[in-house]
Amino acid sequence: MALLRIPDEGRVLSDPEAIRSHLSPHGIWYEQWPVAGRVDRQATAEQILTAYAPEVDQLKARGGYITADVIDVTADVPGLQAMLDKFNKEHTHAEDEVRFIVRGSGVFHIHPNQGPIFAIEVMAGDLINVPAGTLHWFDLCADRDIRAIRLFREKAGWTPVYSGSDVAVGYQPLCFGPNYLPAGTPRAATLPELSA
Ligand SMILES: [Fe+2]
Repeated sequence: MALLRIPDEGRVLSDPEAIRSHLSPHGIWYEQWPVAGRVDRQATAEQILTAYAPEVDQLKARGGYITADVIDVTADVPGLQAMLDKFNKEHTHAEDEVRFIVRGSGVFHIHPNQGPIFAIEVMAGDLINVPAGTLHWFDLCADRDIRAIRLFREKAGWTPVYSGSDVAVGYQPLCFGPNYLPAGTPRAATLPELSA
């Protein structure tokens, strides 16, 4: 279940309806899909897409997405840091960034046109949509572990368009989910493929 933090106001929302109410004015969807018992940790991408086909098909119809794939990132992925660093800077995309978290966790920071920056920590079972053109950045949690379904129209739409702002450096990607690691652990970084 996601957590939504508004650092500048010192507020944390954990109730799904409160989270949805906060996200809705920004055109961001937040849903929770059941995950218990649907796939195991060793499931292939095809098995995951088959298991979640009902929800994925509904999302395709809702958002006009053409296809879906699965990304799988762990801390031992070669070259991870270089890729991660591309997406923890404020950016937008030409198309929606839609992610359903099958395993692990991460943090999206959203910089809305109006109102304070907020962070959404997503965990297994969480679906989020960051609309095209929305300023945001993404970090993994400190354990650097995530597996997610991505939906898209064209992969070219995921290319990050950087705002040039360094606002992200002022917001630590704090994670408080089941894999929470205390302060002092290395700063998590962005997952390019997930965030792209
Ligand atoms: Fe992104």
